[in-house]
Amino acid sequence: MLRASGLKKSYLSGDRRIEVLGGVDLAVMAGESVCIRGESGSGKSTLLNLLAGLDAPDEGLVEWEGTEATADRRARHLGMVFQSFYLIPELDALQNVLMAARMLGVPGAAERKRAAELLARVGLAERTSHLPNQLSGGERQRVAVARALMNAPRLVLADEPTGNLDERTGDAVVDLLLGVCRETGTALVLVTHNAAHAAKAGRALFLHGGRFA
Ligand SMILES: Nc1ncnc2c1ncn2[C@@H]1O[C@H](COP(=O)(O)OP(=O)(O)OP(=O)(O)O)[C@@H](O)[C@H]1O
Ligand SMILES: [Mg+2]
Repeated sequence: MLRASGLKKSYLSGDRRIEVLGGVDLAVMAGESVCIRGESGSGKSTLLNLLAGLDAPDEGLVEWEGTEATADRRARHLGMVFQSFYLIPELDALQNVLMAARMLGVPGAAERKRAAELLARVGLAERTSHLPNQLSGGERQRVAVARALMNAPRLVLADEPTGNLDERTGDAVVDLLLGVCRETGTALVLVTHNAAHAAKAGRALFLHGGRFA
């Protein structure tokens, strides 16, 4: 499904070059769930952005089903939950979820129904017409999870999707993501600091010193 090989990424800070990823390899099969842990600053979000094709590695290659991930394939087959959500402030919760569908065409009644159902599944049935600034941090995070699932993606990349949630709500969101994975064969890469969530994933990896330990 997804194969990354030899990923290297460094950032220039003043005249110093900081190496964040020093040669990361990762293969994820369809339907597989992989959890990535690692200290703050170890490069987890950097790696997810490379896997999503939102940023280019200095060296190395990311392939989806053997070829490059174009923007169109990303819109169709990738669901991404960003660490800082990236909801559109002017759009209410339902419209934010529908934005994913809008990338593929004009959403109709079926898409609106699916968006509403996904919001209900993350516990936001009563919040569909709230704007992001009228939602709590954890509620925004759950809108971002619903948006990531909107297009029934083949791959979900989720960057600490439960970072702002209480234990019970966080467990429910992770169970939803893992359930979607099992039911639909979607592959999941989950970044988390939560050991219990990591234990539920099929495989757990630890990023340290720019590589998987
Ligand atoms: N655009 C950038 N320019 C310069 N340095 C960057 C940039 N993006 C990230 N970094 C640096 O790269 C390192 C890894 O950042 P990254 O966000 O990938 O860490 P992380 O593992 O996701 O951390 P956290 O658990 O806190 O989210 C950090 O030290 C950060 O300062
Ligand atoms: Mg991060």
